Amino acid sequence: MARSDLKPTLVMGARGSVGRFVLQRLLAEGVPVRASARRPEPGRFPDGVEVFAADLTDPASLLPAFEGAGQVFLYANHEGVNGVVEAARAAGVGRIVLLSSGSVVHPTSAGNAITERHRQVEAAFAANSDVRVVPIRPLVLATNALGWAHQIRAAGSVALYRPDALTAPIHERDVAAVACAALTGAPEPVVSGLLTGPARISQRGQVAAIGRAVGRRIRVKELSREAAMRRFSRFFRGWEAEAVLRFLDDAAAGNSPATSTVAEILGRPAIGFDAWALDHADDFR
Ligand SMILES: NC(=O)c1ccc[n+]([C@@H]2O[C@H](COP(=O)([O-])OP(=O)(O)OC[C@H]3O[C@@H](n4cnc5c(N)ncnc54)[C@H](OP(=O)(O)O)[C@@H]3O)[C@@H](O)[C@H]2O)c1
Repeated sequence: MARSDLKPTLVMGARGSVGRFVLQRLLAEGVPVRASARRPEPGRFPDGVEVFAADLTDPASLLPAFEGAGQVFLYANHEGVNGVVEAARAAGVGRIVLLSSGSVVHPTSAGNAITERHRQVEAAFAANSDVRVVPIRPLVLATNALGWAHQIRAAGSVALYRPDALTAPIHERDVAAVACAALTGAPEPVVSGLLTGPARISQRGQVAAIGRAVGRRIRVKELSREAAMRRFSRFFRGWEAEAVLRFLDDAAAGNSPATSTVAEILGRPAIGFDAWALDHADDFR
């Protein structure tokens, strides 16, 4: 069957960092698509794409968007999974591609509160046997570095907890490309393997790459755990801040790997952090 003959694919969170690239790539591949957001604003979506208002926590809002869709890309929202499953079943959706987290399959992340929430979402979807659910599992998104943008723009410096912790951040475009492969039938379980960037790089190294991209030297200050907790608590709930610190402790202990999953699925290397920094240079200027 030609891709244009497939039932439409619904991209939820189609303005999200990953979701926007899922939508863009499916359109480029000629796959029929529709998009949704909780509050879609006119003019924020590509021309010609049918747009729905849909909230994962509100099953009634899902039915119009799900009706007639063959596949759905969605985010791992902790609340409302049963309602999502029911709506997908009622609408006859064949496959859900769930943006989950690599921490679910990464041994030293077990017990971390963020890991456990993703594990619970995956388990709730897996308990339903009618709709095929394919999790996509990035370990560390390169977009986490956008959290430094305000400091870098304002002061030319950034304060980091565990600046020498090594991770292999993945470009959101690669996560989206793997999600598209899953939506259009890439084989499991490879497509649900641990997704990372091509190589490990320290947080300090990421800051240096951003500095090269913007043509400016950026200073790094080291934060104690207590100071980091205070800072993170401004943006995250307490349990989330503690979970992020624990991920960084684990990475600093050498436990955050680089995998070849992206290359195995896409047949080309994953995009490196230098290229990510160039793509996002304007966010740091
Ligand atoms: N940070 C990491 O290192 C990391 C690692 C592994 C996995 N992850 C996963 O990746 C996710 C972040 O992805 P991202 O960077 O693409 O996020 P993002 O840019 O913040 O976008 C999140 C999207 O989720 C949608 N959304 C949120 N609540 C919703 C709801 N109730 N109903 C429908 N849609 C809802 C939003 O849609 P609206 O347009 O309606 O607001 C938004 O488009 C995390 O939440 C986590 O699950 C992150």
